[in-house]
Amino acid sequence: MAIDWYMDFVDTGYSPARDELICLYYFEPAAGIGREEAAGRIASESSTGTWTTLFSLPPRMKELQATVFEIEGNYVQIAYPLALWEEGNASQLLSGIAGNIFGMKAVKNLRLIDVTLPHAYLKHFRGPHFGMEGIRDMMKIHGRPLTGAVPKPKIGFSADEHAEIGFETWMGGFDFVKDDENLTSTSFNRFEERVRKLAKMRDKAEQLTGEHKSAFINITSDTVTMEKRASMLAEYGWNYVMIDVVVAGTSAVSTLRDHCSDLGLAIHAHRAMHAAFDRNPKHGISMQFLAKLMRLIGVSQIHTGTAVGKLTGTKKEVKLLGDVLRNSLTKASGRILLEQDWGSIKSAFPVSSGGLHPGLVPDVLDIYGTDLVLLVSGGIHGHPDGTRAGAKATMQAIDAWMEGLSLQEKALGSRELARALEKWGYYKPK
Ligand code: 6PG
Ligand code: MG
Repeated sequence: MAIDWYMDFVDTGYSPARDELICLYYFEPAAGIGREEAAGRIASESSTGTWTTLFSLPPRMKELQATVFEIEGNYVQIAYPLALWEEGNASQLLSGIAGNIFGMKAVKNLRLIDVTLPHAYLKHFRGPHFGMEGIRDMMKIHGRPLTGAVPKPKIGFSADEHAEIGFETWMGGFDFVKDDENLTSTSFNRFEERVRKLAKMRDKAEQLTGEHKSAFINITSDTVTMEKRASMLAEYGWNYVMIDVVVAGTSAVSTLRDHCSDLGLAIHAHRAMHAAFDRNPKHGISMQFLAKLMRLIGVSQIHTGTAVGKLTGTKKEVKLLGDVLRNSLTKASGRILLEQDWGSIKSAFPVSSGGLHPGLVPDVLDIYGTDLVLLVSGGIHGHPDGTRAGAKATMQAIDAWMEGLSLQEKALGSRELARALEKWGYYKPK
């Protein structure tokens, strides 16, 4: 009598139905386990399986089973019936396709690379409230990247100091002042005080420049507190909240998506902790998948890396992340991305941040183009003439790229850029 039924989940002649979810995994079977069996176990544990054959199974079970339909080397594709999934519940999706399977003894390594979500699944999600065009209209910024900076060092300033640095950032031509991921509401810089003081400085900067100025203020906390903080931001005339989406979790982000939407607030998603699961190329969950999930739930923008700055991520990966967030149809790419038709789900901005300065701006824009939120923080506050000059230098570097000039050429008539190049040149931080 058979003990298990993992092979029931493998049918390499199977063609998935149009309304099934398709997942692509990288996998390495553990010693002594065959490829097909390991793949069958992944499909089983992520859908209806259990470790042993059972006395009886209702006929419905057969229809809910996932099916391994392609194994190629260390890559497997699995089709999941639509009915397995609760409408609009992103957390439940993770508990299935990104749940227990990572801990199975039968696999040495396992990585969820991507999923194709059919229209029938997608339609229960609202996606971003604004989309890139909506954000551009709201900020009245067209044809160039949006720019922002975090006061640095990343935490430690009082609300007053923070607002003062914010003011300088805006006055140098930047659009956004951003909180760092680990700044929420600390004894030396309370959320409420920061919100009030920044709002005052924003009004002053708007008056002086005639431009729209905004901020990504970090509301990360328990969900109820996040809702209160979002409401306070709306009250003080802000149009964004910032959430550390990985640590807060999918259910909190989903709740906040709707709350923020009612208040007319966009969501800036910081991805702190993502590298705990996406850095090892053989195991975990890819950044493509995280970006897709967050667009699905409805953030307006999410960090996607720089390729040239201080954190990991290659140019190719970073480019593909831009496609996942911005396109209405994401085309498949090798074993990295699956095709995704986004239907009526709006686009989201990629955010490039981490170790940037004016000398690296052209490289980042070569990768992303102008539909981007560009964050340059240490790279403005460390300018030899201060924050305002640093922001100006960055805006000059953007202008240079858009005018087709090299930074050297542009620097001839742009003092701030010249000074930035004197200090950093084209240095790539590690
Ligand atoms: C910020 C910071 C910056 C950022 C890291 C994360 O935007 O909060 O200025 O320190 O936290 O660079 O990098 P990623 O953008 O690659 O997630
Ligand atoms: Mg940071």
